[in-house]
Amino acid sequence: MLSESRSQLWIIKHKPRRIEDIVGNEEAKEEYLEWLNIWLKGKPPIKKAVLIYGPPGIGKTLLVEVSAIQYNLELLELNAGDLEGSETIRKIALPFSSEESLERRKKLILIDEIDSIEGSKAPTILKSISDLIDQTKYPIALIANDAWNPELWQIRNKALMIEMKKLSSKQIISYLEKICKIENISYEFDALKIIAERASGDMRSAIIDLQIASIFGKIGLKEVNIAGAKDRQTDVFSVIRHIIYATTVSSARKAVDEYAYDPETLMLWIEENIHKFYTKYEDLELAYSRLAKADYYRTLANKKRMWRFLLYFLEMMTAGVALSKSTKPTYSKIEFPEILRLMSRQRKANDLRSIIISEIAKKCHMSMRKANTEMFWFLLLMLKNEEFKSKIYKKMGWNEDIQSYLNNLSQNLHIKAS
Ligand SMILES: Nc1ncnc2c1ncn2[C@@H]1O[C@H](COP(=O)(O)OP(=O)(O)OP(=O)(O)O)[C@@H](O)[C@H]1O
Ligand SMILES: [Mg+2]
Repeated sequence: MLSESRSQLWIIKHKPRRIEDIVGNEEAKEEYLEWLNIWLKGKPPIKKAVLIYGPPGIGKTLLVEVSAIQYNLELLELNAGDLEGSETIRKIALPFSSEESLERRKKLILIDEIDSIEGSKAPTILKSISDLIDQTKYPIALIANDAWNPELWQIRNKALMIEMKKLSSKQIISYLEKICKIENISYEFDALKIIAERASGDMRSAIIDLQIASIFGKIGLKEVNIAGAKDRQTDVFSVIRHIIYATTVSSARKAVDEYAYDPETLMLWIEENIHKFYTKYEDLELAYSRLAKADYYRTLANKKRMWRFLLYFLEMMTAGVALSKSTKPTYSKIEFPEILRLMSRQRKANDLRSIIISEIAKKCHMSMRKANTEMFWFLLLMLKNEEFKSKIYKKMGWNEDIQSYLNNLSQNLHIKAS
């Protein structure tokens, strides 16, 4: 059986417990605490809510959670992705925000991932959050990755905007060193440096990589390369957005470097979505003609085995499309490519994966996104242990299809080393 320290996630085990232990973003922390302290003195500040925003894995949720512990606040934590309608806000958050605490403690309301509120119910949910801000007797902290989504305008007006930024490699490295010392695991400084650089500012992803590498007994360059093979599944939505909004060749290209699917599938996503972002006809015409060119190079590469054409294919599909625009793209939702739905093999894999993720999310009480980014790969890793594997399959009641899909991914976890 895996030992206790190996089976526990380090992002939980080494989670800072005091605000001063949260790395980086000093100004943002200060601003947040100043706002919270006005509340705690008994008078609501002008802005009754804060909207903390910034890239993933830098301590946004952490800051709010730790502040609740440190100030002994009763915390109501809601994940916006789980709000099915405005009912949850009205029935749970509203009473919580207006009634005295039974324990006579002060309260704090956290609504996380508010940028994931999408679909036809979004306007009513967002309106109910905005009403909640008007009526609340207690502080409300809202969190988002992308705070500039036009649908959030009402909330932006009512909230104190606090930006949290990516962490520097230096900050990440010293935190990783601290973890290695506590775990009593030997490390090469250069290996930590690679992990930190790969994480590009995301502490959560760095700690996860560190833990995977640690499975091999020490953190050296070799172990780190294996850790890099993890099924990252960089969110296809953010890759598409990157390409669509990119203004330079290199930033458009960089998006695909971090992408885990095959470029052919990526092209389908781009094809399906650019027309919603590029509003000028001439821009679209150029973008599509470049996609057609990309497709031509791809065919040359595959059919004639002229591999260097793959480079032109990638370049045209990313930078070519990105630089077709003459004005700033509009904001739009990204749609799943219709053609993919027709490709049954792909669909089956996608379906299996989303079934698994949604069941993990339910069992672990976390959002689908968290289950996908934090738990899924960890599950694959754990499945390498036979005893754990049979236990989890029994507990989850997964059928043979799912089991063989997972077994396959789990077995291949090392082989894909970069
Ligand atoms: N600044 C930090 N200092 C120390 N640990 C951190 C920091 N940021 C993140 N972590 C680690 O990563 C985990 C996840 O962080 P957190 O949930 O706060 O990310 P987030 O910024 O809310 O990301 P997301 O946008 O994906 O929700 C934490 O539990 C902690 O273990
Ligand atoms: Mg968060």
